[in-house]
Amino acid sequence: MSPGRSALIFSEQTSSDVFIERAGASDGSLPRIMAAVVTHIHDIIKELRPSREDWQKLIEFLTEVGHASDERRQEWVLLSDLIGASALVEEINSRRPKGATPNTIRGPFYRSDAPARAAGANISFDGIGEPLAVSGRVTDLDGLPVANAEVVTWQANAYGVYENQQPDMQPEHNLRGVFRTDANGSFHYQTVVPAGYGVPGDGPVGHLLARAGYPLHRPAHIHFLVRAEGFETITTHIFDGSDPHLGEDALFGVKPELIRVFEPAEEGRKVEFTFVMVRAKPGRSA
Ligand SMILES: [Fe+2]
Repeated sequence: MSPGRSALIFSEQTSSDVFIERAGASDGSLPRIMAAVVTHIHDIIKELRPSREDWQKLIEFLTEVGHASDERRQEWVLLSDLIGASALVEEINSRRPKGATPNTIRGPFYRSDAPARAAGANISFDGIGEPLAVSGRVTDLDGLPVANAEVVTWQANAYGVYENQQPDMQPEHNLRGVFRTDANGSFHYQTVVPAGYGVPGDGPVGHLLARAGYPLHRPAHIHFLVRAEGFETITTHIFDGSDPHLGEDALFGVKPELIRVFEPAEEGRKVEFTFVMVRAKPGRSA
């Protein structure tokens, strides 16, 4: 009797080959990706040899991740972030020459509608926290200024909470703003020193990792997105060099060149940073 469309009989040895043979019947990139994913999944199963009950537990976990996700919360993104998959995709897609500011993941608290602010403006609308003066430059790889670059910033407050996590407690767009560099590529503004925070640990992903004793901290940081005509967009963080959790960022964003000391200033503290941009390759802007 013929086994059907496939010439191969399904067994532990042939399992992924049988799948690939069937998937190869259609065109496009999805079968190629699916073939790779399925082959890896089969290999994991063959290596770990889970019981039926273990496999059922995995299905239940993934079901919970789906149920915990909605328009306001993305548990799948959290899972991708916390296992380093998001950071790895970012690494692969933003290789830059030495000296250029590296990209890191954008994270879940970005808002695309942050207001434009004048140079020197204070983005802390409630004034709660230790004052921090931020200044910096945007240059190309040769150190030449990039004028009129857009510097978008967002950060947590002195308690480690973003404005869009607390819409009833913090003013709208608190600790967010869009600045433009001047002819020297410079920008500056006032804010407050952000605190580090824990990533959401109340869902299935947080529960699983917390049970394993996995750290869910993010060291204190400020997010930046720097855009300029003709250059690759920089999406990155600046980390507070005094944070005790620098070595265990749950989202794998810390790189030595992104750590700065928030130095004592006349009032509060100050930090300075130069963003070094790379010219965009044709057809690629980010
Ligand atoms: Fe953040």
